[in-house]
Amino acid sequence: MKYALVTGGSGEIGKSICEKLSEMGYHVLVNYNSNKNNALKTLESVVAHGGNGEVIQFDVSNRQAVSNSIDNWKKQHPDAYIAVLVNNAGINKDNLMLWMENEEWDSVINTNLNGFFNVTAGLLKDMALNKFGRIINVVSLSGVKGLPGQTNYSAAKAGIIGATKALAQEMGRKKVTVNAVAPGYIRSEMTKELDEKQLKKLIPVNRFGYAEEVADLVAFLASEKAGYITGEVININGGLYT
Ligand SMILES: NC(=O)c1ccc[n+]([C@@H]2O[C@H](COP(=O)([O-])OP(=O)(O)OC[C@H]3O[C@@H](n4cnc5c(N)ncnc54)[C@H](OP(=O)(O)O)[C@@H]3O)[C@@H](O)[C@H]2O)c1
Repeated sequence: MKYALVTGGSGEIGKSICEKLSEMGYHVLVNYNSNKNNALKTLESVVAHGGNGEVIQFDVSNRQAVSNSIDNWKKQHPDAYIAVLVNNAGINKDNLMLWMENEEWDSVINTNLNGFFNVTAGLLKDMALNKFGRIINVVSLSGVKGLPGQTNYSAAKAGIIGATKALAQEMGRKKVTVNAVAPGYIRSEMTKELDEKQLKKLIPVNRFGYAEEVADLVAFLASEKAGYITGEVININGGLYT
């Protein structure tokens, strides 16, 4: 059996990614932090489409909780390894830096950037030993371009982009690829408060993107076919920024 872990599998984009990886034959570990119901809905959808998986709770920003949870899973699956990791969990707490609270900075860095490290570090060895691994980091236009009101989020996502490029060079010989996808505006919980009618005027394809479109890109990067793509940041933003 092939295993894939998707952090934030209880969210909009995470759900679509779980579905696509499952269609590729992966047993999907659907991670969630607070929203078990949504994680179970993701799992239901995976199963309804003929796939299988399980939910796994941990807060990516809590290093001890992540390692406890993954170690526990490994003990229950001694012959298995997680071949595909999608670091998708993320939060934003937008504010101008003039007014930004320490907590807004810390929590966004801890969840997005430290979360990437906390989850990825413990899975690298198995990927290297098995000579196959795919790590896909869901970053953001914000981390590529920088967006006002998001210094915390832009910094966290840009940090992951730097780590993606460095880790790709460390892991290439082991046939482990490391890439990032950088969505622009995608319809989801995170963007539901935004004025799509106004914002879409700025987007060449004249609409927000869909979670499934991000998931298709992630699925390709996770596939065997994408073995010669590594260290890349692939924009998926309707032409908003290139
Ligand atoms: N939507 C967009 O337009 C857009 C654009 C660019 C980038 N992105 C990125 O895409 C990714 C997915 O976002 P989304 O749009 O699908 O948003 P979403 O629907 O709000 O989902 C966010 C997911 O992250 C999980 N999460 C948050 N904090 C966590 C933590 N500490 N530990 C574990 N999981 C945690 C949430 O889990 P619980 O609900 O269980 O707590 C949820 O599953 C994020 O990294 C986001 O930054 C989104």
